[in-house]
Amino acid sequence: MAKPTPLVAGNWKMNGLNTALAEIEALSGLLGGKDTPACDVMICPPATLLSRLADAADGSSIAVGGQDCHQNVSGAHTGDISAQMLKDAGASAVIVGHSERRADHGESDKTVHDKAVAAWDAGLKAIICVGETESQRDAGETIQVVEGQLAGSIPEGATADNMVVAYEPVWAIGTGRTPTADDVAAVHAAMRAALEARFGAETGGSVALLYGGSVKPGNAVELMGVANVNGALVGGASLKAADFDGIIDAYRG
Ligand code: 13P
Repeated sequence: MAKPTPLVAGNWKMNGLNTALAEIEALSGLLGGKDTPACDVMICPPATLLSRLADAADGSSIAVGGQDCHQNVSGAHTGDISAQMLKDAGASAVIVGHSERRADHGESDKTVHDKAVAAWDAGLKAIICVGETESQRDAGETIQVVEGQLAGSIPEGATADNMVVAYEPVWAIGTGRTPTADDVAAVHAAMRAALEARFGAETGGSVALLYGGSVKPGNAVELMGVANVNGALVGGASLKAADFDGIIDAYRG
């Protein structure tokens, strides 16, 4: 059975001006100057930087992704960006269903599902995010919430090539707090079982499952070492090339 290909992806969120392109050059230099990591590397910048960042990353091992897409291909949706536009700008993937989109823009599982379909139609990999709030965790509902989000957000036709799942507990994002390794293991085991039950052992067993939420160089080795964790979705620590590379270190010898 094919093993998941680990991915360390940086989500810059609403951060990054022209000057941030220097971080890509720095990251490219770090990746080129050290042992090749046993993971794919991606940066998801704000849409304004996408094409310039794709140019800057050209010839390096850094892939570029979007942070969100509209579910339609084109039309009267002021301010929105389609998956096809992201692809056209140089993206190979797009994050859908990030908890900040779910919370700030009221995105439902159905919306996330439709965005993932749009991503696939445009030839992009969908990075589908799930994760419980602190009150859901306190109520003992974590597994149930995550399983429900997976069931509702992942379309039929998912494969290890067109999808990555990211588990991001909402309360761990940007807080410096993380679940214990045992807690991460329990959620990732449940996600793996749900994917295998729905898509079969081969597909379900080979989809990469990322952990996200306060991943830093100092905790990456432990978190990336948890069973069924196949990489990280990194916010704050992806903004500086040296920090991000310190996380990628978890996948070097
Ligand atoms: P932080 O790494 O800043 O906690 O953000 C995680 C995240 O939301 C990545 O998508």
